[in-house]
Amino acid sequence: MRSFQTSTSPKFPSFLTVFFLFLSTSYAHNFLLRGSSLSVEDDSDILVSPDRTFSCGFYGMGQNAYWFSIWFTNSKDRTVVWMANRDRPANGRGSRVSLRGDGAMVLYDVDGSIIWETNTTSTDARMAELLDTGNLVIKGPGGEILWQSFDSPTDTLLPNQLFTKSTKLIARLHGGSYASGYFNFFFDNDNVLRLKYDGPDISSIYWPVPYLKMFENGRTNYNGSRIAVYDEMGHFVSSDWFQFIASDMGLLRIKRRLTMDHDGNLRLYSLNNDTGLWVISWEALAQLCTVHGVCGRNAICVNTPEPKCSCPPGYEITEPGNWNQGCKPLFNETLLQSQQVKFVELPHVDYFGFDLNFIESISIDSCMKLCVGDYRCKAFNYKLTGERRCYTKSELFNGYQSPSFEGKIYLKLPVTVETSQLAILNGTDPICQSDELETMIGSPSMYNINTKRMRWVYLYSFASAIGFIELLFVVSEGGEEHESDLTGFVRMVKSKIQCGEDSWIEEIVDPRLDGQFSRNQATTIVQLGISCVEEDRNKRPTMDLAIQALLEWQD
Ligand SMILES: *[C@@H]1O[C@H](CO)[C@@H](O)[C@H](O)[C@H]1NC(C)=O
Ligand SMILES: *[C@@H]1O[C@H](CO)[C@@H](O)[C@H](O)[C@H]1NC(C)=O
Ligand SMILES: *[C@@H]1O[C@H](CO)[C@@H](O)[C@H](O)[C@H]1NC(C)=O
Ligand SMILES: *[C@@H]1O[C@H](CO)[C@@H](O)[C@H](O)[C@H]1NC(C)=O
Ligand SMILES: *[C@@H]1O[C@H](CO)[C@@H](O)[C@H](O)[C@H]1NC(C)=O
Repeated sequence: MRSFQTSTSPKFPSFLTVFFLFLSTSYAHNFLLRGSSLSVEDDSDILVSPDRTFSCGFYGMGQNAYWFSIWFTNSKDRTVVWMANRDRPANGRGSRVSLRGDGAMVLYDVDGSIIWETNTTSTDARMAELLDTGNLVIKGPGGEILWQSFDSPTDTLLPNQLFTKSTKLIARLHGGSYASGYFNFFFDNDNVLRLKYDGPDISSIYWPVPYLKMFENGRTNYNGSRIAVYDEMGHFVSSDWFQFIASDMGLLRIKRRLTMDHDGNLRLYSLNNDTGLWVISWEALAQLCTVHGVCGRNAICVNTPEPKCSCPPGYEITEPGNWNQGCKPLFNETLLQSQQVKFVELPHVDYFGFDLNFIESISIDSCMKLCVGDYRCKAFNYKLTGERRCYTKSELFNGYQSPSFEGKIYLKLPVTVETSQLAILNGTDPICQSDELETMIGSPSMYNINTKRMRWVYLYSFASAIGFIELLFVVSEGGEEHESDLTGFVRMVKSKIQCGEDSWIEEIVDPRLDGQFSRNQATTIVQLGISCVEEDRNKRPTMDLAIQALLEWQD
């Protein structure tokens, strides 16, 4: 109402915008007629399912990446359930999706190139329609379905969506990306549902338990129909006899999704009406360390109880913050082919698979000789008790430490490599969680907090920088109204830094700067600010040190 009290015009257009926004959202359609388009630039250009559960349109992330997607309207972070060509985002200007005159639905980039299209050319497609189930369908004149998004899932299966021999769920690469990652959920050639790590170097099946027989895993491979589905109640059934029920089974009106997560676990989620957050109601693996490839080549996963990745003696992390790349040797690998080698014991550790040899009832000395004599051998697994089994390993993948492993890994290293007698496997989080930061940046309240608190980043003035640090100090003492938001923000940025990501810098710097700032200076000052709010006071820099660091980048 304030817009009428002021005689100046600037308020008036904003009132109009709000009015039209209201109009367009209240009349949001669930269909797109032949010959019409949705534009990336118009936020209100979306389809909404009749019961409003799902929305479909351009979903943006970061500065200039948009995907034609379907998402849950009411989940807090607008959870995406489907994407057209996740590996090629569209430009934030000029991109559009059209139900073309020839019947095909086509996603065009700003330069007119085709990012994705349906195979419905030369059909009498009448319209595309978003259903309450979350299925986007292209219908003919009689209502018959010519194409449906349910036939090409991304990483998520919805209730009553058939999972078949021609569908697959592929996880996102990591939390901050929608690109195809390495973990797959699929029907294998022998008719069994499986989870597989399918990385650039290797592929390895890790669910159901790979060393158990079919029947021990409760599966069958005799039914070739390869079909699975779950209902709204939370009951999943598959033709290979696999089935499960959700922990909140039976509650009909709950919104559910089954997602192949980027950490390699398959999870069923329920949407909490009140908070808009997702709650896990079933998961395939109780321990994340049993996911193959979770820590990358040579690395070892340790449940502490949270899964942590670490490198064995003689190795170091290849790309700090990114366990996908695993660990690299600190020595020249050709040295392993000489006789000048030693072995380091790793108790309760195994590297699953990649066996060169498997011999029973053999002494540890003979097993060791086998490994020394084979230039391909990088380690061997041996159990002193029982069958005294010897496995020599050509690759060190799927490393896992568990108290329940009675065997040990004997790691082959050049004698020249110095190692401590006792290998300490501490380590860091395998998965870099970056989803939350994006969520927060997207929410209006966080944006306000960001602009209010982060002004220092683009004012290159010493005084304002100190002002920021003081603010963080105030927050850390607990005297601020938005404390939880800001501490949450600090936690997220910290995890991004640990994960080696720097995309967040653009996100928190005022867009009005139009990129006119130094990344290095911005990074330094954010890191400094964050170190000032360490929970452990001993880890905080003194004011002297902080001022010194600030003076350094002033020069
Ligand atoms: C078109 O797509 C549908 C669903 O994705 C599929 O079942 C059908 O086989 C495809 N047709 C052709 C000709 O590729
Ligand atoms: C194979 O599985 C499907 C789907 O679960 C089921 O309908 C069908 O009866 C099964 N066939 C046999 C021979 O068990
Ligand atoms: C969620 O909302 C639906 C419809 O409004 C309701 O029927 C259902 O009981 C709610 N679920 C929970 C867990 O509150
Ligand atoms: C490793 O050692 C071999 C043989 O001494 C040498 O030819 C090779 O260049 C070395 N590789 C590296 C990466 O140093
Ligand atoms: C593991 O612990 C050792 C000894 O406490 C330490 O030197 C090393 O930096 C730690 N590694 C990691 C990745 O935390």
